[in-house]
Amino acid sequence: MNEIEKAKEILNEYNQIHIVNLFDKIDEEKQVELAKQVLNIDFHKMAELYENTKKEIEIKEKTIEPIKYLDKAKLTYEEKQNFDNLGIQAVKNGEYAVVTMAGGQGTRLGHPGPKGTFKLDVYGKGKYLFEILAENLKEANKKYGVTIPWYIMTSRENNEMTKDFLEKNNYFGYDKSYVTLFMQGELPLVNTEGKLLISKDMKIKEASDGNGGTYSSLRSSGALANMKERGVKWVFIGSVDNALLKMVDVTLLGMTIDKNYQIASKTVVKANAHERVGVFCKLNNHPKVIEYTELPEKMAEEVDSNGELKFSESHIMCNLYSIDAIEKISTEPLMYHTAFKKNSYIDEDGKEVIPEEPNSYKFESFIFDAFEFFDDIAILRGTREDDFAPVKNKEGADSPKTAKELYEKFWARQGER
Ligand code: UD1
Repeated sequence: MNEIEKAKEILNEYNQIHIVNLFDKIDEEKQVELAKQVLNIDFHKMAELYENTKKEIEIKEKTIEPIKYLDKAKLTYEEKQNFDNLGIQAVKNGEYAVVTMAGGQGTRLGHPGPKGTFKLDVYGKGKYLFEILAENLKEANKKYGVTIPWYIMTSRENNEMTKDFLEKNNYFGYDKSYVTLFMQGELPLVNTEGKLLISKDMKIKEASDGNGGTYSSLRSSGALANMKERGVKWVFIGSVDNALLKMVDVTLLGMTIDKNYQIASKTVVKANAHERVGVFCKLNNHPKVIEYTELPEKMAEEVDSNGELKFSESHIMCNLYSIDAIEKISTEPLMYHTAFKKNSYIDEDGKEVIPEEPNSYKFESFIFDAFEFFDDIAILRGTREDDFAPVKNKEGADSPKTAKELYEKFWARQGER
């Protein structure tokens, strides 16, 4: 049986007859490409994910408690010195690597391209988000006399553009031999009848499988093996869209080493009950982040005896892992979250349909769902002014305007620039 026949057999088995019919409408070269794509898709998993969309989410929680944390501002001088020394030593020993999750597009921002190529209007001249990250790492390199390996996760959609952009800008002065781009995975989009959507190029329409794909992509791309060859023991994973992200926080690193944790995260206090951030908690005694889209209203608004939000520690995508933790998580499947979205597709007559209402499911895993594989997580509470200037929306909260203000105020406080 050749690849095309094999592909058709699978499609028939999983009731994707519209894709079987698609083969008759495209030339031979396209047929071979489509067959390859089909053979790479896990149809059993897709069928399961579709079936799950019909089920109510079951909350099996027994106990749900706020997470414990250390407040960076309240550490004693000795504690901070001890943590910093441990962290500095590990960085100086070349044991530290950084991963930037840059697979997302700037859709919400209205930016046509990879999010890291967005220019934040700071100091008149402006700085690209990738430039801000590169500067943050270069500053640490200078301070600790090392070059930290920098791994950037892209997606099929933005890999070429990201690479060209970084090349054109000479990696913002970062030593290119220490920068590795790797691509995240994708999953097909499925309509309400469980049928996979077809894209304009007559292929199965796929979309990024969420930032939880970082771990398995680190492994499958060879980036994890590369880290181990370099002697890396600690891996920081952060977002591309926080202009104040501190990727090399030696206090966080030292605290994690000192307390013998496998995973750690820096948080800031939630600005208000309905801020669009995930919040940390302990669910059935395991660390967990509940995403803002899934947080029950009652839990979001709950206050403690001091009138403070009970679940206040925000996930700002400032996460740290031992290399062993990454090893472990990268082979464990994470749960998928479903988003019902508007997605254009090609119908059976070959016409493009642009829906006005949501018509299909997108499945994504989330980076923080791996936390529950561990008994505990070290949480260091930072501050919004120092650590969190997200660039998410075109206007209003978490917009370029708010991020610019936070960024410029931070640097004014440092007495620089
Ligand atoms: C994210 C967090 C949320 C946190 C908030 C803080 C997740 C799932 N959610 O929400 O808990 O409080 O940021 O600002 O992490 N990305 C990829 N590939 C993908 C999807 C996303 O690399 O397939 C990257 C993006 O480029 C970005 C980061 O992940 O660096 C966050 O993605 P986004 O989808 O914008 O998350 P938020 O909804 O803002």
